[in-house]
Amino acid sequence: MKICSTITDLRNARASLKRVGFVPTMGFLHEGHISLVREAKRQNDVVIVSIFVNPTQFSAHEDLDKYPRALERDSALLQEEGVDILFTPSADEIYPDGFSTRIDVGPLAHRIEGASRPGHFDGVATVVAKLFNIIQPDRAYFGQKDAQQCAVIQQLVRDLNIPVKIIIGDIIRNQNGLALSSRNSYLSTSQQQAATAIYRGLLHGKELFLSGMQNSSTLQHEITKIIEANGVNTVEYVYIVHPFSFELKETAEEGDLILVVAQNNNIRLLDNMKL
Ligand code: PAJ
Repeated sequence: MKICSTITDLRNARASLKRVGFVPTMGFLHEGHISLVREAKRQNDVVIVSIFVNPTQFSAHEDLDKYPRALERDSALLQEEGVDILFTPSADEIYPDGFSTRIDVGPLAHRIEGASRPGHFDGVATVVAKLFNIIQPDRAYFGQKDAQQCAVIQQLVRDLNIPVKIIIGDIIRNQNGLALSSRNSYLSTSQQQAATAIYRGLLHGKELFLSGMQNSSTLQHEITKIIEANGVNTVEYVYIVHPFSFELKETAEEGDLILVVAQNNNIRLLDNMKL
């Protein structure tokens, strides 16, 4: 595996390659990331992974400084997976002096997570557009775990005619149903155990929907009860949304998404399930 830390090195390495699959990450890799890498390996001649903890998608009070990092371990994992190039740019490489463009994909980016974290999706769209321009992948891989991020990237690629196919991978969970996340490392074992109620809440919501309950506020209420029952989690929101626009739905329909953010030990845990 080749490691590139400058854009020039990366472009030189990229120029000689065939069908390229790209998996953007912020590192501290887990099976969720690795599942995307494996899918990319299956579908392409060459796989490029980036590890870049992108400062512009964190707001001032968020966890940029303490975001978990383990570059050596990540690099060994990716080597084992047969990744061809690991791109690990510095913040100055991506945002040199004088950098000032920001991409706002519109209303989609201001709803739900965009409302909870103002500017977050501008930071994501901007860095992903830059990474696409630097790497010029044929396919790029994102996880359904961050459902609204997937929709933002699809909007970005469509609106700006970026020639890349976006592939969405399923949510990878631990054996108790907790969706894997680099931020789970902030939780103790018992807090992680309590957080599995999020998945149970989502499953219960889906069961109710399948048995005929379409009223969103009833579904929200029933899901919230399950997630908060152990007294450890606090629900920040449960919403039923349209899967592309992320507009709120009063009446749930097949294909809509249940979105949950619950706080556990002040850590925001995101999860979702398709109806
Ligand atoms: P990061 O949180 O490191 O996630 C990288 C990719 O892994 C994202 O597409 C995310 O949705 C996916 N992923 C995370 N947990 C997953 C899980 N449990 N199952 C399946 N996929 C999972 O998302 C980002 O980084 C950044 O916003 C980024 C796109 C790299 C832009 O900075």
